[in-house]
Amino acid sequence: MTNLSHPTLPGALPDKRQVAASFSRAAASYDSVAALQRAVGMSLLEHLPDPLMPSRWLDLGSGTGHFSRVLAERFASASGVAVDIAEGMLRHARGEQGGAQYHVAGDAERLPLRDASVDLVFSSLAVQWCGQFASVLAEARRVLRPGGLLAFSSLCVGTLDELRASWQAVDGRVHVNRFRRFEDYQRLCAASGFELLGLERQPHVLHYPDVRSLTHELKALGAHNLNPGRPAGLTGRARMQGFLQAYEAFRQPQGLPATYQVVYGVLRKPQA
Ligand SMILES: C[S@@+](CC[C@H](N)C(=O)[O-])C[C@H]1O[C@@H](n2cnc3c(N)ncnc32)[C@H](O)[C@@H]1O
Repeated sequence: MTNLSHPTLPGALPDKRQVAASFSRAAASYDSVAALQRAVGMSLLEHLPDPLMPSRWLDLGSGTGHFSRVLAERFASASGVAVDIAEGMLRHARGEQGGAQYHVAGDAERLPLRDASVDLVFSSLAVQWCGQFASVLAEARRVLRPGGLLAFSSLCVGTLDELRASWQAVDGRVHVNRFRRFEDYQRLCAASGFELLGLERQPHVLHYPDVRSLTHELKALGAHNLNPGRPAGLTGRARMQGFLQAYEAFRQPQGLPATYQVVYGVLRKPQA
């Protein structure tokens, strides 16, 4: 697999093998630091129309399988498939009680599933790692049965801007993962052939006592900077000091903020 570049992203996304390796390494630490991911996934579940009775669901980018277990409880008579690009995450998920019946290694842009084989595609905070969101939409549409739903959450431009701006004050290097614009999600969803039931953006702001707590958490999640163009090796003491000082300018009474701009989308595959 090669680096991905996409006209709607300002530059290239990380190589998918690096994404898979990084998340595999993070499988053991992920759950302990995934407060935002929990909150976003729960909020995505609340976006699902009620009643909903899928006979087969897909948890796409399932990670440690937390939401596969929630889906299995919620849709007790259905069977579930978990797909993730990181083998380490799938291994971790398989080791837990409950959740999906099947754990399959695969890429959201080329799903290893048959046409019209699921009724619900649930994907929380995974597709921001995909360079071609149009391919994710096309694949979700292919594997869904007519009338089936795609519910996704993702991140868009504005995410981790405090971190980005603080590095910007020090050097011009790529220190923070890149994100698609919300307008691109709107455009790509509108062109997808899905019926759009809802698409919105909501800021979630987390607070940290210091910058190291934030960067350690990103690493424990496997979501630290993997972009091509990121600086290699150690950051010099003076640049690091400048960076920490720049981030301090954002400090609020609750601590140092890290803003996530979360996109929530719910789409239905037309019946015809
Ligand atoms: C931030 S975690 C979210 C995990 C889980 N959905 C949750 O909310 O806890 C992102 C997951 O997406 C997976 N992922 C990244 N790119 C992917 C791709 N192209 N296809 C499938 N999974 C992918 C990663 O390996 C990782 O497990």
